[in-house]
Amino acid sequence: MDAVSVVGLLVLWLVGYWTYKYVKFRLNPLYHAPAVPMGIPVVSVMKQLAYEEATAPMLRWTKTYGDFAIYFPWIWTPAVLTTSKEAVKCVMVEKEEKFTRTRLSRAILYDIVGDGLLLSNEDMHARQRKLLAPVFSPSNLPKFISIFIQKSNEVADRWEEKIKSSGDDHIVESGYSTAASVAMDIIGLAAFGYNFQAVAKNEKASAVSRAANDLVSPMITAAGRLLILLLSTISPMLSVWVIPGRAKNIRTVRRAVREVIQARRKDLEGQGEFTRDLLGLILEADARNEITEKELVDQCMTFLIAGHETTASALQWIIVVLSQHPEAVEKIRHELHGKELTYETLRNSKYLNAVVKEVLRLYPPVPIVSRQALEDVEVQGFRIPKNTLIVIPPAVIHMLEENFDHAEEFIPERWLREDNPAKASNFLSFNIGGHNCIGQRFAFFELLVLVSVLYTRFNIQATEERYRKYSRVTMKPSPELFVRVSVAKEHSAS
Ligand code: HEM
Repeated sequence: MDAVSVVGLLVLWLVGYWTYKYVKFRLNPLYHAPAVPMGIPVVSVMKQLAYEEATAPMLRWTKTYGDFAIYFPWIWTPAVLTTSKEAVKCVMVEKEEKFTRTRLSRAILYDIVGDGLLLSNEDMHARQRKLLAPVFSPSNLPKFISIFIQKSNEVADRWEEKIKSSGDDHIVESGYSTAASVAMDIIGLAAFGYNFQAVAKNEKASAVSRAANDLVSPMITAAGRLLILLLSTISPMLSVWVIPGRAKNIRTVRRAVREVIQARRKDLEGQGEFTRDLLGLILEADARNEITEKELVDQCMTFLIAGHETTASALQWIIVVLSQHPEAVEKIRHELHGKELTYETLRNSKYLNAVVKEVLRLYPPVPIVSRQALEDVEVQGFRIPKNTLIVIPPAVIHMLEENFDHAEEFIPERWLREDNPAKASNFLSFNIGGHNCIGQRFAFFELLVLVSVLYTRFNIQATEERYRKYSRVTMKPSPELFVRVSVAKEHSAS
């Protein structure tokens, strides 16, 4: 076949494929929904998503086309972008069983977290959630506070030593490494009774912590992101294969998890009693033959990844925001002054709670949640065909004036007002429904403790004035966060 025939066949195929897709779209009930123009097929949309600040295109589309619109990640194949309260409730709560995780999130996450709580569905999910819920119940929360304090103080002691030996009045530290290490140590101790010693810069633990972080948010260039997004529209697996270092990172983290499990099994041989932390409960279920060995490892991987990467992102954003708002730091210090750091103190420190919540609103570590329809289903008056992708972006919902006054501003006081309870229900950083964040109270108190300990002992200043929101699964500051740390003279905590 000569070159002209090959080109001719290609053009014929393209025209045929295009026509088929267009006719299919004309018959799609979503044809009548407001639509973001397709532009150059695939490229226009993907370019905006890859090159602009995280969720900026979605905010613009929402402001232009309304709270329920379609866009085209692939030729004439619509995905729904919705910020409507009604649609969120329908997808996440009322018709939850008619939706599943998307093919892309499964492709990105399956070989990391397997059949753990994050990706499991229906009966398996219900069984796992029932098994693990007691660990994260409000009554269990006070038990974790001492771990949070211990690890926050470990960071603080290291900083203090470093400042002393620097011969200067300050040091510059990686905010990213600090946040990732402390979050990793905390989830290790709280969930598995295992000290990764990432804060102490145990080399192996630091490698595991970085591998775990890179797995869900590799710092790749905008062009790399564009390539990944484009490939994901052809096949989710293709997009996964091009992420550099992925296979090695997965091996590193899985090996660490197996070691944690082995260590606990060894302890069990000695004492014969299950500790009732997360790993203890899973091992108990394992002993009753209720779960497989694969599920055991997958579940630990799930909590290691979900439980440290998100909190680490949140802590970094708190540092960024507090660097821009020194008056908030002063108020926090004033609120905590002279008080012992206990569960009760934390619960009653209203301003501190408001600051953490406000940062989670402005910079939700999980900026977008998405689902795929398992069958034809009606949402907000539209029939959504099976397999349609539904995208719900908390990072956009939180930026809309109808949901929050002066939505783009940092106003912690909004959470102290009692006159407007309806607006609190627009806070979606932990999502809602049966798949909402099981670790939300744990994460929130972890952040309260970290802020209390670090900001009463130190002045912490981000080295850049402005950071872009960079997103791949979780949202973190770009460029990488570095902080200038000096000892706070006047204020001392408990
Ligand atoms: C600030 C920190 C955190 C944020 C913003 C956050 C956010 C979220 C969100 C939005 C979801 C729902 C995802 C979806 O519906 O697609 C989720 C699920 C989940 N989170 Fe978190 N999370 C945080 C910390 C944690 C911690 C500390 C743990 C564990 C100790 C944890 C464990 C999980 C698990 C296991 C799920 C899956 C729940 C299920 O599907 O039943 N998260 N998280």
